[in-house]
Amino acid sequence: MKNEWGHVIVEGLIKTFQTGSSQVEVIKGIDLTIKRRQSLAVIGASGVGKSTLLHILGTLEEPTSGRVFLDGLDLYQQSPKALARIRNRKIGFVFQFHHLLSEFNALENTAMPALIQGLSRKDAYGEAEEMLVRVGLRERLRHRVGELSGGEQQRVAVARALVVEPELLLADEPTGNLDSQTGRRINELLIQLNEEKGLTTIVATHNLELASMMSSQIRLIDGRVQEER
Ligand SMILES: Nc1ncnc2c1ncn2[C@@H]1O[C@H](COP(=O)(O)OP(=O)(O)OP(=O)(O)O)[C@@H](O)[C@H]1O
Ligand SMILES: [Mg+2]
Repeated sequence: MKNEWGHVIVEGLIKTFQTGSSQVEVIKGIDLTIKRRQSLAVIGASGVGKSTLLHILGTLEEPTSGRVFLDGLDLYQQSPKALARIRNRKIGFVFQFHHLLSEFNALENTAMPALIQGLSRKDAYGEAEEMLVRVGLRERLRHRVGELSGGEQQRVAVARALVVEPELLLADEPTGNLDSQTGRRINELLIQLNEEKGLTTIVATHNLELASMMSSQIRLIDGRVQEER
């Protein structure tokens, strides 16, 4: 079924980067089906293309060729406006580097996507507060980004990604710079939210403990999927 909620299908994906006169083919042909509620870990060596794959799935970067379907919608056949709408409504992103806005506090950062989506200030802040409490930051709502620890910032990033209740959560090395205990708390949170909200979760990570918590795993080697389970 191509049109199921939260269902992701990747067909014949290729991504080539042009740098100066040289071309690098990073993704050399990937096919994937990720079902609703599935949690998938993407593992593989540094530079293999994990972030690139997530960016393409998240509509942040266009593939060189191949197709990506979300809910049966052929993403790269959409107009830029339609694509922006899908990105905003259906996809939550936790980046490798958190990209929070440093001059704003935790609550403002978390509410931002909901405001962009058109929720009233009251509703957006209400939802944001609920998500921040959910990630254990009840006492940090009005702390600015710089007044939060790395793990707290990463939890704000998770709250921000989930505030609009996406169908698809893409998390790129969400525990990259955290100590193992804080990392584990974020891992558990991602799994919990995946189960509770029924979202489709795709995580790129070097953290094998996190990878093993996902319902399936793929390993990228030389631009292709080498291992699936
Ligand atoms: N905009 C770009 N222009 C040129 N090359 C790029 C660009 N973005 C990524 N690359 C190259 O594509 C390759 C894959 O990068 P990517 O960031 O996807 O790797 P990764 O698997 O996420 O690595 P890491 O584990 O270190 O995060 C790298 O060799 C990188 O240099
Ligand atoms: Mg990466």
